[in-house]
Amino acid sequence: MIVLGIETTCDETAAAVVERGADGKGRILSNVVLSQIGEHAEFGGVVPEIAARAHVEALDRIIAKAMEEAKASFAALDGIAAAAGPGLIGGVIVGLTTAKAIALAHEKPLIAVNHLEAHALTARLTDATEFPYCLFLASGGHTQILAVRGVGDYLRLGGTVDDAIGEGFDKTAKLLGLGYPGGPLVEKEAAKGDAQRFALPRPMSGRRDADFSLSGLKTALRLEAEKIAPLSDQDVADLCASFQQAIVDVVRDRLRSGLRMFRLRIGAPKALVCAGGVAANQAIRKVLHRVAFEVGSELVAPPPALCTDNGAMIAWAGAERLALGLTDPLDVAPHARWPLAQVAKEGDKAAAQ
Ligand code: KG4
Ligand code: ZN
Repeated sequence: MIVLGIETTCDETAAAVVERGADGKGRILSNVVLSQIGEHAEFGGVVPEIAARAHVEALDRIIAKAMEEAKASFAALDGIAAAAGPGLIGGVIVGLTTAKAIALAHEKPLIAVNHLEAHALTARLTDATEFPYCLFLASGGHTQILAVRGVGDYLRLGGTVDDAIGEGFDKTAKLLGLGYPGGPLVEKEAAKGDAQRFALPRPMSGRRDADFSLSGLKTALRLEAEKIAPLSDQDVADLCASFQQAIVDVVRDRLRSGLRMFRLRIGAPKALVCAGGVAANQAIRKVLHRVAFEVGSELVAPPPALCTDNGAMIAWAGAERLALGLTDPLDVAPHARWPLAQVAKEGDKAAAQ
């Protein structure tokens, strides 16, 4: 089964062709990602209108490149998948409409993929991970702990009540004048800093649920920075190190709690899987390894290029759904908001109920 996948929900214009064998194993035939980071950098974050226009300009070319690298023709495809949300609605419309046009012109099934579901299923493409597993999804827009029980069968164990972790890194970088995206820059500064210098809070720690909150941490960091302004290079490094350590401690505590909930409700997870750009952070990866080890499980961490937004994860989720006969009508709607818990096996119809 060969599927084209299109991703345009945020600031990456991406297309990929993925093959799913009869044994359920996946193979990436091409994976083309064009980042718009340069176009948003001066604004310190993604500007929706700029993103949508950039997707329109680039998408045809990116799809052509993905098809060429995969040496595939549209006629040879078994399905066309596109991320239909959640995300910035202008971009989602661009990708989904393009997928509909290809599906219509070549008489192929359309699969409207939930972007979060695609992150959730990536471990099955890279590592053939078996269900059920626990997913820690942490990106610029999302922070969630999920039980992945099957394709279309997700249970949300916890999530952030305010900012996503990646957003926290981005806002910290902005506050300290480091640039965008903030995650890698804060991590680099943190390596040179003293994580003990500032006593920052660990919000939600010790609670029985698996929820996150970052706003108190964000405020505490800003107050510490204001107290010692103007900041020296060492001050910046120490603030970054203290912030990153607080996040690491919070992730450890919240994941322990999430895994406890997983065990009570579902049983032993086959793996702890991470996804999203934040999983590129080495200090966070280390703590994920440790937490997985504590519960007698292992960490499955897809390569960073497949943890961040890409077309291969959309194509793969499309192939997994197509293998179960889950396709969508050509009038399926794009969604700005689309909680994963609503993605039922029956597809979009069930989500709308
Ligand atoms: O998954 P992703 O590429 O895009 C979405 O948000 O969907 O994640 C990007 C986020 C940004 O907020 C970025 O700052 C964060 O992931 N990030 C990191 C690191 N690399 C990227 N956060 C912490 N440490 C990193 N090394
Ligand atoms: Zn994403």
